[in-house]
Amino acid sequence: MSETFFHTQIGTDLEEAARWLEAGQCVAIPTETVYGLAANALEPSAVVRIFETKNRPAFDPLIVHVPDAVAAEAYAEAFPPLLRRLADRFWPGPLTILLPKKAVVPDLVTSGLPRVALRAPAHPLARRLLARLPFPLAAPSANPFGYVSPTTAQHVYEQLQGKIPYILDGGPCTIGIESTIIGMEDDALVVYRLGGVPVEAIEKEVNTPVVVRSHSASNPAAPGMLTTHYAPRKRLLLWPSADHWPTSTQEPKLGLLLFKRRQQLPAHTRCIVLSETGDLAEAAQNLFAALRTFDSADDVETIWAEQCPDTGLGRAINDRLRRAAARMA
Ligand code: TXA
Ligand code: MG
Repeated sequence: MSETFFHTQIGTDLEEAARWLEAGQCVAIPTETVYGLAANALEPSAVVRIFETKNRPAFDPLIVHVPDAVAAEAYAEAFPPLLRRLADRFWPGPLTILLPKKAVVPDLVTSGLPRVALRAPAHPLARRLLARLPFPLAAPSANPFGYVSPTTAQHVYEQLQGKIPYILDGGPCTIGIESTIIGMEDDALVVYRLGGVPVEAIEKEVNTPVVVRSHSASNPAAPGMLTTHYAPRKRLLLWPSADHWPTSTQEPKLGLLLFKRRQQLPAHTRCIVLSETGDLAEAAQNLFAALRTFDSADDVETIWAEQCPDTGLGRAINDRLRRAAARMA
């Protein structure tokens, strides 16, 4: 397919977004997690445009966004009670559920896998758009493949301008990291990607332990979970121990990514605090924008990142930091 050039518009016009989507084009849409690059999930020629625009390999399947659990049933052969319970509890919201797919879902969307990933997003504009359209929306995060996900319309514009006709602006994303992906293997719940719904919240809802299998580099059940996802272009290193934060450093172009405010910091160093008070939700909200800021800062060559406490949303934040660091390994 030949590449079309678009004069990319940013706006809040739901009808304009709907018209482009109905015409089989891609539109960037806000969700509460990150911005998505959306197209008609039931139309292969529209879905192909997502892969082309993102430079995304065809083996990496797409999440299908639906208004609610009832709508999801049109695309799933079965909805096991445990997963249905999670949908009832966490939808609309940052939870993606893998269910056996119906034939109506193109193989292109699932990369030929037997399950389809379904999510009902909570962002009010996304919900209104989905209610307005006669089809569900396939949407990966609206970034070039392998880069940090966008959490504002401007982030999307910086990377996809000229490639898509419209960016629906819903303001900064309130969650800031991608959805949690969950499915079942035999009778067990398995989390394939840590994300906006903490594992603890899921376990509390179903009252059983959940298996977390999100760290593998080549996980056949979630092939998109590559170790190097979410990477900024600059070198990112994980600070090994919170106890020994440097108070002086020789490195001239250092950026410090801190989870919370510290008293003593090295002089002449760029520093971004994800949450002044050490609030995990706030840190998640600010994470990707902070990585982008460092990426475009001339005075930063290396980013040292502090990990968060490994609980709740902190696990998902640490997961993103580790993947960003793995790019350099
Ligand atoms: O929060 C989110 O989930 C955002 C917003 C836009 O909804 N979307 C998102 O999509 O993060 P994406 O494409 O960047 O990541 C989706 C991942 C894929 O890389 C893959 O690992 C997994 O979801 N996935 C999607 N469909 C799958 C399927 N049928 N089977 C297994 N894994 C699947
Ligand atoms: Mg992504």
